[in-house]
Amino acid sequence: MKQITFIGTGYVGLVSGAGVSDFGHQVVCADIAKDKIAQLQKGEIPIYEPGLGDLVKRNVQAGRLSFTTNVDKAIQEADVVFIAVGTPQGDDGDADLTAIFKVAEMIGKNLNHYKVICTKSTVPIGTGKKIIDIIQKDKGEDKAFDYVSNPEFLREGSAVKDFLWPDRVVLGTNSEKALKIMQDVYRPLFINETPMIQTSIQTAEMIKYASNAFLALKISYINEIANLCDEVDADIHEVAKAMGSDGRISPKFLHPGPGFGGSCFPKDTKALANLARKKGIQLRTVEGAIEANQAQKERMVEKIKGFFSGNISGKTIAILGLAFKSETDDIRDSSAIDMIQALLDGGAKVKAYDPIANNNMSKLFPSVVYCKNWEEAVKDTDGTVILTEWREFRGIDLEQMKALMNMPVILDTRNILPIKDLNRLGFQYENVGRKGNVKNDS
Ligand code: UGA
Repeated sequence: MKQITFIGTGYVGLVSGAGVSDFGHQVVCADIAKDKIAQLQKGEIPIYEPGLGDLVKRNVQAGRLSFTTNVDKAIQEADVVFIAVGTPQGDDGDADLTAIFKVAEMIGKNLNHYKVICTKSTVPIGTGKKIIDIIQKDKGEDKAFDYVSNPEFLREGSAVKDFLWPDRVVLGTNSEKALKIMQDVYRPLFINETPMIQTSIQTAEMIKYASNAFLALKISYINEIANLCDEVDADIHEVAKAMGSDGRISPKFLHPGPGFGGSCFPKDTKALANLARKKGIQLRTVEGAIEANQAQKERMVEKIKGFFSGNISGKTIAILGLAFKSETDDIRDSSAIDMIQALLDGGAKVKAYDPIANNNMSKLFPSVVYCKNWEEAVKDTDGTVILTEWREFRGIDLEQMKALMNMPVILDTRNILPIKDLNRLGFQYENVGRKGNVKNDS
């Protein structure tokens, strides 16, 4: 059993900290944000993440997990220190590493005995070396440490599952001693035969960016193919299904939609493309995926405007789904932001409903009318746009919806509504790549 400290209690730090305590280790999650720590100490979870509340409660009750604002002490007491602070996008498109370097300084100052220092935050390739230099500069003469890059592959909304049952664990380090300690940290996974991939620090950092960029690229690709399906009367669902049954392609991340959002893909693709340009390499595919994603968001706006011959002034439009995907209240880089902005700019009135993200979006767009459920949102509207794939939207009673709306107009950007019912009820509808000739309405 190890004494482990996580610095940063965002969704990566909190999920990973609680997960590692579930593996049987003694874990302290430290953060300078007093409010957040006070909430956690009271047993409240500051973010929406399915299963996280239970995981935290179970381990707090077992005496393995605690929370503190005393970051110095938490570092001093730890055998392993995980860095899990945020790396937001800076003004220049690169990741802002201010918090990372501050934490590295704190670690250097509090290095009282040998520790493994491990970065979970997504940091540009080459950051590990800088973190080592900072710790080295501040640490006392005889104090030793080793460094590990251990990127996370957690999806918001299924982060607990992704942590406890990962596809692989990547450990980037040049120290055999640190590697053994990390294998011990992840022992239950090691025993389960989860692949443990040992690499250099830079390679581990690259694996994280290369993975996220590839997934983003896959989404932009299927979105563009879906757009073409629209024009040639092909069904993107059947295309994606048949493509995905080829083991080399895989069916995952082949769902067309309104463009990817969230705190990772938009930021990480830009950071990777920027870094590459600085190194004299142009990542044309990644730059293309970024461009295609912006175009996809704009295409969705054009689709809804198309129902009104381009003029939405004075129309009332309902938006169902505000977060960047279902099972989260996170609205960062959500397609809903572009959509709402364009509708308001065009003179439309916007009503909106999301099961858990209304509050977050209301800070950005206070003039939107936020509703308690989809029925209230679509009432007396001239059109509805579905932007996230929440289960409750899949089960919408279309007959009731038609009766509530002024005009039966729907843009289903997640392709979740049954086309045969939309046709039967006489809806005017649009989706992404399923315009005509849909044989299997699944
Ligand atoms: C993503 C990665 O999936 C994680 O592996 C990674 O750890 C994480 O970023 C991170 O770097 O922290 P996340 O942003 O939480 O996770 O969400 P995803 O499920 O990957 O979805 C990202 C966006 O792509 C969403 O807007 C989603 O709706 C969209 N998407 C996803 C599609 O449009 N189609 C798909 O087939 C899949």
